[in-house]
Amino acid sequence: RTVEWEAEQTGKSGYDHYMLKEIHEQPLSLRQCLSGRIDELDGRITVEELDDLSDHETVQFVACGTSYHAALYGAQLLRAAGVAANAYYAHEYATSPAPVSTADLVVGVTQSGETADTLSALREASRRGAETLALTNVVGSTAAREADHVLYIRAGPEIGVAATKTFSSQLIGVNLLTSHLTDRGVKRRRDFVDDLRGIANDVQAVLDESEAAAVVEEFVDSDAFFFLGRGLDYPVALEGALKFKEITYEHAEGFAAGELKHGPLALVTANTPIFAVITGEGEAARKTIGNVKEVEARDAPVVVVTDGVAEAGRYADHVLEIPTTDERLAPLLANVQLQLVAYHMAAHLDREIDKPRNLAKSVTVE
Ligand code: G6P
Repeated sequence: RTVEWEAEQTGKSGYDHYMLKEIHEQPLSLRQCLSGRIDELDGRITVEELDDLSDHETVQFVACGTSYHAALYGAQLLRAAGVAANAYYAHEYATSPAPVSTADLVVGVTQSGETADTLSALREASRRGAETLALTNVVGSTAAREADHVLYIRAGPEIGVAATKTFSSQLIGVNLLTSHLTDRGVKRRRDFVDDLRGIANDVQAVLDESEAAAVVEEFVDSDAFFFLGRGLDYPVALEGALKFKEITYEHAEGFAAGELKHGPLALVTANTPIFAVITGEGEAARKTIGNVKEVEARDAPVVVVTDGVAEAGRYADHVLEIPTTDERLAPLLANVQLQLVAYHMAAHLDREIDKPRNLAKSVTVE
């Protein structure tokens, strides 16, 4: 018994939970993901595994759970770069497949490479003639073996059921894919590459300075928790809510900030904290600040997760800050704050963090 306990502690490297250990491993796992994929001399992004990938005008992502949120983010990145892209829940895709042709690329985003619904969707796409790519963490997994191409995210083993470091690496993975598909052979803009190289240090800064633990303590007796975001911050709002419900067992809901008025606002009270993700500047940030004002008018406590660019913090009860970086990468940093929000709330509530009730790390039945 004693020996087992020691083995367990060693596995967690002194952290109370695997989840916290894995959250803190992110600077390392992100460096691994990028290693050898940025040319040191000219800053070009080169992903050798994708060398024989054909050109594609449309990309469809299929995924479940946390991986679906990375897929939603990836689809937005590609659309912004001029590629028609969409993300589908793999189980919905199987029921109602999108039209697909040999000119299309279907990307299965799956940490384990074993999620039954995602494998089915990839098989269906392949049967209809699409080229397929697995974006996965597990070398030799079923998705990796069956897809036409594989892009490994190299996050290392993830033990906690709630995905953390693998999500961050998936976000980098879809950035690599976007660069590959949209500026092949083109010298990448230096500032983006510099920010990509700096992402591990930025995550470290969030980990070192986060005030998430203190902020959530105030909210232990709340009725429900809402997460909102727009554009690239929208998948982060969904992921923040998913992580929160998975390990705290509290009601949490994520939604697109623009949907607030179309229903969720009816639920907002002084006892429903709102976590608003607001990164970058411009229209999207300005509009989400408008939504923050709407919930404040209903007395809801507001926590803004922000890089400060749009001065969104002025409208919040609490601010969880992230370093400034390229607007495509800022959502990754905001998500690290929300991982800590979920973790510390679950710790305050004394929940079973690494093995949440009713959930499995990999769902291998449809
Ligand atoms: C399960 C896990 C989630 C994960 C989802 C998809 O529900 O508990 O953390 O996001 O499966 O898994 P995959 O391995 O396909 O990314």
